[in-house]
Amino acid sequence: MRRRHLVEIADQRLCPRLFRNITTDVLRFTSVKTNMYAPILPRLKAVLQTLDCHDIVDLCSGGSGPVLLIQEQLNNREGYPVRVILSDKFPHLKAFEQVVEGTGCKVSFIAEPVDAASVPEGLRGFRTMFASFHHFRPEDARAILEDAARRREGIGVFEFTGRNPGIFLIMLLSPLYLLFAMPFIKPFSWQRLFWTYIIPLAPLVVLWEGIASNMRTYSPQELKELAKDIAVNGYAWDIGTVRGTWDLGKVHGIGLHKITYLFGYPM
Ligand SMILES: C[S@@+](CC[C@H](N)C(=O)[O-])C[C@H]1O[C@@H](n2cnc3c(N)ncnc32)[C@H](O)[C@@H]1O
Repeated sequence: MRRRHLVEIADQRLCPRLFRNITTDVLRFTSVKTNMYAPILPRLKAVLQTLDCHDIVDLCSGGSGPVLLIQEQLNNREGYPVRVILSDKFPHLKAFEQVVEGTGCKVSFIAEPVDAASVPEGLRGFRTMFASFHHFRPEDARAILEDAARRREGIGVFEFTGRNPGIFLIMLLSPLYLLFAMPFIKPFSWQRLFWTYIIPLAPLVVLWEGIASNMRTYSPQELKELAKDIAVNGYAWDIGTVRGTWDLGKVHGIGLHKITYLFGYPM
């Protein structure tokens, strides 16, 4: 099945902020609760160590979930402390403020919009993009990679969506999952409950966003195609997939999904 750039509701300028925040809050809750990106941690640490880099600039942060869990694991489990700057084209300030309050000076955020396709000059550090590279059409996606390479910054792109049957099945079951999960998602919101249990538009929006994201996600082969024409000397690419896992504290297992990753870094 080839990549198709289906419309994502949250990408539309006219999308109400409430629905944009619901989708990113759901994503943060799910990725943190299941420790979804754990399989990429060893590779990420190795790349950061190679670069001797302790600063992460997270692009397209949304509700900010995955990068903060990764930061905590790098700090506490791997003994590799990193600072994180959160950013987004549509900054979810309530979520940003809440995490900064909880984590202190190791996390900061940019309150103004930051377009991942045009990262401001002064923003230095290893760039991460969780569940967001698929938002960009090939020409912008290539420009994002090229910009990182030309400025000799490392970049890590991580996607759990894709065009494989397992993740489509997970997306189809997502409305059912949300009926159970919604009350537990923070920050608590009556509006979110209204749009789930009284008028069930929120689960339908999340379902559509999931399917559209699957169809938009670049395969490793497509990522290699994007990177191959970027002619910057002394800059390496590492692209592939790892089997997804889920981890609910005491219970964990192999997932139906894969994590597609791309690392770019100066040598
Ligand atoms: C699917 S969410 C992923 C959020 C977060 N990284 C996560 O995994 O929970 C995609 C995010 O990309 C942001 N976004 C979309 N287009 C963007 C752009 N051109 N530049 C920066 N952020 C963008 C959206 O506002 C949204 O927060």
